[in-house]
Amino acid sequence: MTLRVAIFISGGGSNMVSLLDSMTSDHPARPCLVLSNNSDAGGLSKAAARGVATTVVDHRPFGADRAAFEMALNETLEQYQPDIVCLAGFMRVLTEEFISKWQGRMINIHPSLLPKYRGLKTHARAIETGDKIAGCSVHEVTVELDEGPMLGQHTVPILNDDTPETLAARVLIEEHILYPAMLRKFADRLASGT
Ligand code: GRF
Repeated sequence: MTLRVAIFISGGGSNMVSLLDSMTSDHPARPCLVLSNNSDAGGLSKAAARGVATTVVDHRPFGADRAAFEMALNETLEQYQPDIVCLAGFMRVLTEEFISKWQGRMINIHPSLLPKYRGLKTHARAIETGDKIAGCSVHEVTVELDEGPMLGQHTVPILNDDTPETLAARVLIEEHILYPAMLRKFADRLASGT
């Protein structure tokens, strides 16, 4: 059985591209959908160029009504029947209800060595703290923000003259290696039912 993967993005989608490009040959999964909450997301055209279905569920018409936005997300997902949802730079906080529905089938990449620096501005915070090592984490999504069982982490050094931008670029290179590897691990596990 080939597993179906939906990827949620909000921006450029470089992690999404690394995931799409990894699902070939004997990989147990294939992409079925790239979904964005933002019609301007640069990643949409990259997915379309790779022949993957794309869709936009704009959060703005729903205002503060997260439940209604997520109902629209779920309606879309029902059409594509994913087995796995990958969050890849998806900049909306999801409610407990949505996460509970997808728990055990949803994974996320975060640009820090969790449990350090949940939330935003991870690179600036690591530099300000004086850390010598930064990195990225791929984890299962549970109701607490940026928590959930860890699938894997990669580290990079923080250099003396790093800015948040230079550090982000170094971490992103590792994200593109880590996320596909952890999707593969997660998909293998789901496919084997363990
Ligand atoms: C990545 O750093 C990811 O870890 C974070 O958002 C960024 C998305 O970048 N959650 P991209 O859209 O994958 O290029």
